[in-house]
Amino acid sequence: MYYIDSLLVKGFRNYNQQHLHFNPRINILVGENGQGKTNLIEAIYYLTVTRSFRTNRDQELANWHDNYFYIKGTFVKNDFKDELQVTYRSGKPLTVKLNQDNLNRFDHLQKYPVVVFSPDDLMLIREGPSVRRRFLNLEASRLSPIYFSELRAYQKVLQQRNSLLKENYNNRQTLGRRIEPWNDSLVSLGTNIIQARVKIIKALEKETKIFFEQMTKANETLTLDYACGFDYSEGQKETRNNFLSLLSSKYETELRRGSTQVGPHLDDMKILINGYDTRKYSSQGQKRTAALALKMAEVSLFKKIHENWPIILLDDVFSEFDQKRKQYFLDYLINNTGQCFITTASDLNEIINNLQSEYKIFTVFRGSITNENSGPGY
Ligand SMILES: Nc1ncnc2c1ncn2[C@@H]1O[C@H](COP(=O)(O)OP(=O)(O)O)[C@@H](O)[C@H]1O
Ligand SMILES: [Mg+2]
Repeated sequence: MYYIDSLLVKGFRNYNQQHLHFNPRINILVGENGQGKTNLIEAIYYLTVTRSFRTNRDQELANWHDNYFYIKGTFVKNDFKDELQVTYRSGKPLTVKLNQDNLNRFDHLQKYPVVVFSPDDLMLIREGPSVRRRFLNLEASRLSPIYFSELRAYQKVLQQRNSLLKENYNNRQTLGRRIEPWNDSLVSLGTNIIQARVKIIKALEKETKIFFEQMTKANETLTLDYACGFDYSEGQKETRNNFLSLLSSKYETELRRGSTQVGPHLDDMKILINGYDTRKYSSQGQKRTAALALKMAEVSLFKKIHENWPIILLDDVFSEFDQKRKQYFLDYLINNTGQCFITTASDLNEIINNLQSEYKIFTVFRGSITNENSGPGY
């Protein structure tokens, strides 16, 4: 069991001061647009990740009239209670406290897991490969610290190799000698990264299957494929060889462009519905469902490794689905997740009427929560 029990925010976005107690399962934030629903979810996310999912500038999070914000939350995990606090003052490093101890900003990152789903996640489907690479890197790093360190090492090698290509293209003899060791590191780190990504893609695909089929009434299948410039499907040794030979065939182009033209930094994850590229051939609704399926897969993978469900923040997700999908998704959440926060501008009754679980409702109005109601079981 893992959930956030209470939250205090001061000076965060349009909240002056707000103290809340949450339900360990379902929390629904209802209110018109622009009232502060997403802001509250953002505060929960910020407290655990120490960054926002909407901006990289902390100052934006402080109330317009101030240069300060404060967030405090109590987290319950396997019967232990932890108090986490962050204090922002402009021009000063962020203060993070766990119980009585000061923490380094990113020290507690993995300890209070949250997953946010917002309409922006459609970018995962709609945008170019770099968004999906970031997703894969993030997922793989979360699941394996080795991946994270190899990725950092790879990025350094890439940088070194690129600057060699740029500096020495006039002196091919020197370059040939100097670039050799970088080729080896590029290929061996790159191969490990590719193999780890292929593994995580397989795991994600497996997890998305049931969810996606149910959401589309079993008419459609979602498949995920790793897209790479060369064949990676056989063993480690073959993959390295294929990597290396494509690399040498691109040498002239690399010299001309001054950058490395083969490797996982250019790869992609293909997301296919019934075999067709979702990015190109799917409707808005299919894209949405595919993105949601990926996120839910991330949630179940997380559970497998960390034993507790992460806290799930669902921002404006329900309004997009028809009645049947809403119902299925709600049932899925009740049966397959822990604590959830759901924001909605409109369809509150549709949600509660279908909810077979205890829940709590928060009415959000102009940066304050004016009303709290509880549902069955509470
Ligand atoms: N730094 C800030 N200071 C004060 N108000 C802010 C700040 N950032 C955003 N807001 C206000 O917050 C409101 C948007 O809140 P949001 O949570 O995104 O709304 P919604 O309920 O639609 O999710 C807007 O009215 C906006 O003016
Ligand atoms: Mg919003």
